[in-house]
Amino acid sequence: MFSKRILNILLILNLPSFIISAPLTICDGCDHLSPRSPSPQIPSPSEDDVTCPNLGGTNEPLIDYNVVLKTDATNYDSVVKNHFEMLEKCLQRERHNVHELDFSSIKDNDNVIFDFSVKGMIAGYTTKFSKSFAENYLSKLNDVAIVNENKVIEDPFENEFVKQAPLVRKTVRPVAKMPNLDRIDQENYPLDLKYIYPDSAGAGVDVFVVDSGIFLEHEEFQGRQGKTVVEKTFCGNNLADDNGHGTNVASIVGGKTLGVANYANIIGVKITGKDCPLNAQNIINGITYVMQQKANDPERKIVLNLSATSSDSAVGEVASKAVEAGIHFVVGAGNRNLDACGFFPGKVETVVTVAATKITLNQQDWATEFTNWGKCVTLFAPGEKVPVAGIVNSSEITLDSGTSLSAPHVSGAIALMLAEGDSTPEQSKEGLLRLATKDKIQGLDYRPTANLLLRIRNAVI
Ligand SMILES: *[C@@H]1O[C@H](CO)[C@@H](O)[C@H](O)[C@H]1NC(C)=O
Ligand SMILES: *[C@@H]1O[C@H](CO)[C@@H](O)[C@H](O)[C@H]1NC(C)=O
Repeated sequence: MFSKRILNILLILNLPSFIISAPLTICDGCDHLSPRSPSPQIPSPSEDDVTCPNLGGTNEPLIDYNVVLKTDATNYDSVVKNHFEMLEKCLQRERHNVHELDFSSIKDNDNVIFDFSVKGMIAGYTTKFSKSFAENYLSKLNDVAIVNENKVIEDPFENEFVKQAPLVRKTVRPVAKMPNLDRIDQENYPLDLKYIYPDSAGAGVDVFVVDSGIFLEHEEFQGRQGKTVVEKTFCGNNLADDNGHGTNVASIVGGKTLGVANYANIIGVKITGKDCPLNAQNIINGITYVMQQKANDPERKIVLNLSATSSDSAVGEVASKAVEAGIHFVVGAGNRNLDACGFFPGKVETVVTVAATKITLNQQDWATEFTNWGKCVTLFAPGEKVPVAGIVNSSEITLDSGTSLSAPHVSGAIALMLAEGDSTPEQSKEGLLRLATKDKIQGLDYRPTANLLLRIRNAVI
């Protein structure tokens, strides 16, 4: 098979020149120190030269905050060292790396600093502070980029490199009941009841499904060429998909018969489920976990399809660092018929943000009523009544709708591209834009959005 390899050019972190923060001198005249609550003692400054700031009144409730530090390639180590030193001393809490942490072992969340840093890529953590400390002090430090309250998310689910189009051997799958797959391999109607795709089918590409887990026993994942695993959970020690959402989307990415790229590896990272409400912290943990895998093995071709949107800018900050680290990042635009620019990480310019179309019986493409829209949308993909694997039993196939289901079509499409030749996230995004079917989508009159519908790569002649 003809396979054109292009070096995986990792973008080096070249952030704008942030203020290089001097080693932390905390709150020079902190004579107003008051311990935050009965247990942790503020150590006496004599112990070291770290002076502890006022952590807030004893009566103030403590709230979880997600904090992202301001780092660049030159100051990463010193910022991390100074900031965490201050925290550990002043809070007297244990610091744990979330990517290695067994969450079921944590009994007392109040006494933990959940560190989601990935060396050289992103630095940050989640822990509890009083509101006055977070807002009046922490957020004003030079080395702090973002301090946001960790909120539960309601209704979370709502290049040149193809220029000469090398010859790609194609596989044909009959898809009479899957108009979604049928639609994305051809520009024009009528549908031909076939899904035609490169026979590399995403092989060698790792698609991380950051979601509710995956029902691995489902037939769609049995006997696949690519592997299907759930590798990490941020919900206690529970790896099972007790929601169904992760299984639905994983089957679109790479299910044996339902999937866009059925040889791609599907790697589940569980961030929500029963008894594990989705919040910004879990989303950040999931994204930085994938960044850690990229840091461990920079040659890995990684697509990250995220299951949730949030109004938290910390999620946006982390997503944008993930793209800088070379991760191809796909997210749904959201299901509220609102401007997608109001949500993270969809608002981040470098991620691929996907809105939903439906395929009508008379064979037209319409923007769905529910889809978010606007200039933060990269392109559309089918997202209404899409056949997906369910969790009721190992053969259940059900129909589901939402931009959650549009996004994995695009994750699969990127996996198809990457299996044929490596590219940067920027190049894969350009590739999607160039391949997309233009000006076929109706229903955008009052929702101005680029009229682009996903088309997979083999379609280029
Ligand atoms: C699996 O579940 C679906 C949906 O509830 C049902 O229609 C089907 O009969 C079940 N199949 C088996 C083999 O139990
Ligand atoms: C892909 O992203 C969408 C939208 O954010 C999400 O809802 C869906 O669960 C994700 N799919 C996978 C396979 O992770």
